[in-house]
Amino acid sequence: MERIGDKVISRAEITDDASATFADSTVIPDRYARPDEVRDGVVVGSDESYELPVVDMARLLNPEFSEAEIAKLGSACRDWGFFQLTNHGVDEAVVEDMKDSTLQFFRLPLEKKKAVAIQANGFEGFGHHYNRASSEKLDWAESLILVTQPHEQRNNEFWPADPSTFRDALDKYSMEMSNLTSRLTVFMASDLGVEQETLMGTFQGKTQSVAFHYYPPCHHPDKVIGITPHHDGLGLTLLLHVDDTPGLQVRKNGRWYPLNPLPGAFVINVGDILQILTNGTYKSAEHRVLPDVEKGRATVVMFQNACVAGIVKPLPELGEATYKAIDHVEYVKGNFRALAEGTRFVDSLKIM
Ligand code: OGA
Ligand code: NI
Repeated sequence: MERIGDKVISRAEITDDASATFADSTVIPDRYARPDEVRDGVVVGSDESYELPVVDMARLLNPEFSEAEIAKLGSACRDWGFFQLTNHGVDEAVVEDMKDSTLQFFRLPLEKKKAVAIQANGFEGFGHHYNRASSEKLDWAESLILVTQPHEQRNNEFWPADPSTFRDALDKYSMEMSNLTSRLTVFMASDLGVEQETLMGTFQGKTQSVAFHYYPPCHHPDKVIGITPHHDGLGLTLLLHVDDTPGLQVRKNGRWYPLNPLPGAFVINVGDILQILTNGTYKSAEHRVLPDVEKGRATVVMFQNACVAGIVKPLPELGEATYKAIDHVEYVKGNFRALAEGTRFVDSLKIM
């Protein structure tokens, strides 16, 4: 990798070779091979029963069950930092259109997908996921990353024109995810004992970005990683499974717990900024993706940013701050720098 000094994060393009490797995985080139990393950490097997939390929006909204369901939401965010959300009320047609457009985009020949390829030192567009300055290794996935909100920050040249339904589908989907975030923060506020408007306000009108990932099937799943272990650095992440292929794993107490996607559910996780806002009450959990042997896997992942009047800091209602306050722009820069180094920026803000 060139010019590590002035380049905080890098994304490699999807070349013809990369595309051929993904299409026929009998031989895994060095740049993707990292069996030691795959083996790092015990994966909890089918022999041990466990359940990642499931939260039901219909129960959150029903006065009869609301209190119990809010407690469930709260413990999911405290203990796991991850949950699946059922009966979420998001417009089904909007979700289906987003899924269709996503699949159609990834099925296009490489030449067509390259119409929205990342540019040198760029962040948006089609390419590999980020890779760390310390590692030459690449993730086993194709990713399209875009800024979706606010409108004036959209870079149209990276929004696929093919399939023709894509832009409209994403525009509508982006709105739905903003609304879902607002609805969820109301119940999180109840759980935390802060004013609804206070927590909702930290998310409203902030930036939103999206990552579309396609993880091709791989004949050597013991050698490659779909997405490198990481924590999400922003506020809240809302993940849609486009198909029913599993692959996401969540780390808890050092062990990896594979998530079994529930049909029609969203996977929601706490990002580092929400951990800071809640003064460490909610946990942002490490996660990774391993590809499937037989089936491809596609996801649509929305990242919701949050801050308090331009500052990332714990809500004052939640007691003596255990994190230093930092300007949001500085936070985002620091977070990218740490991501490139393989460290966590949030750790550097902790007040000891
Ligand atoms: C991410 C992420 C997981 C997935 O994009 O940050 O963790 O299953 N994605 O695609
Ligand atoms: Ni993530």
